[in-house]
Amino acid sequence: MPELYNTLLSNNKKWVAEITEKDPDFFINLSKGQAPPVLWIGCADSRVPANVITGTKPGEIFVHRNIANMVIHTDMNMLSVLDYAVNVLHIRHIIVCGHYGCGGVRAALSNTQFGIIDNWIRHIKDVYRLHNDELNALTDENERFDRLVELNVIEQVLDLAKTSIVQNAWKNKEQLWLHGWVYSLENGLVKDLDVNFGNDSELPVIYKLNA
Ligand code: CO
Repeated sequence: MPELYNTLLSNNKKWVAEITEKDPDFFINLSKGQAPPVLWIGCADSRVPANVITGTKPGEIFVHRNIANMVIHTDMNMLSVLDYAVNVLHIRHIIVCGHYGCGGVRAALSNTQFGIIDNWIRHIKDVYRLHNDELNALTDENERFDRLVELNVIEQVLDLAKTSIVQNAWKNKEQLWLHGWVYSLENGLVKDLDVNFGNDSELPVIYKLNA
């Protein structure tokens, strides 16, 4: 067996020993059920682990990750996670967390064919088209890249608000807040994009669904 593979298993034993030394009932209590207050929709990038960067423990964040933290309405995986998080777990906050230097967003900025992933990436190109004027006005390539990362997060937050799942939760007077963050790989800090939706008042009328 490769060394790294064995290290993963021995690390797991060390981790359990450390936790149970401080709190012998930690796993017994956690095994009884979960009530996380937060749903995290983040990039699959290995450098952006939800619990680690927010200093949270197992049981505190319900997590969904995919390439470039997308909320795509035909994605059964995302919809199932969202439905379960909102309607069964009754989570209070949904955070879409993108990150600067995102490979998915970088791919969307290019015209290169990458394979089947081009179909996924195309949704980011749609975000570009929607904000074409703002992005094209940025002459610095890095600035344009960073801004597309931010705009992509903002659009995914809006895409969450467009779902019947989120709109019905608001209609049922659930306390449900949507937020957009961008994480910096370079310094580990999160930038809150200040897109906070707690109701559908700012959602364009065309997207509003009747009860
Ligand atoms: Co990424």
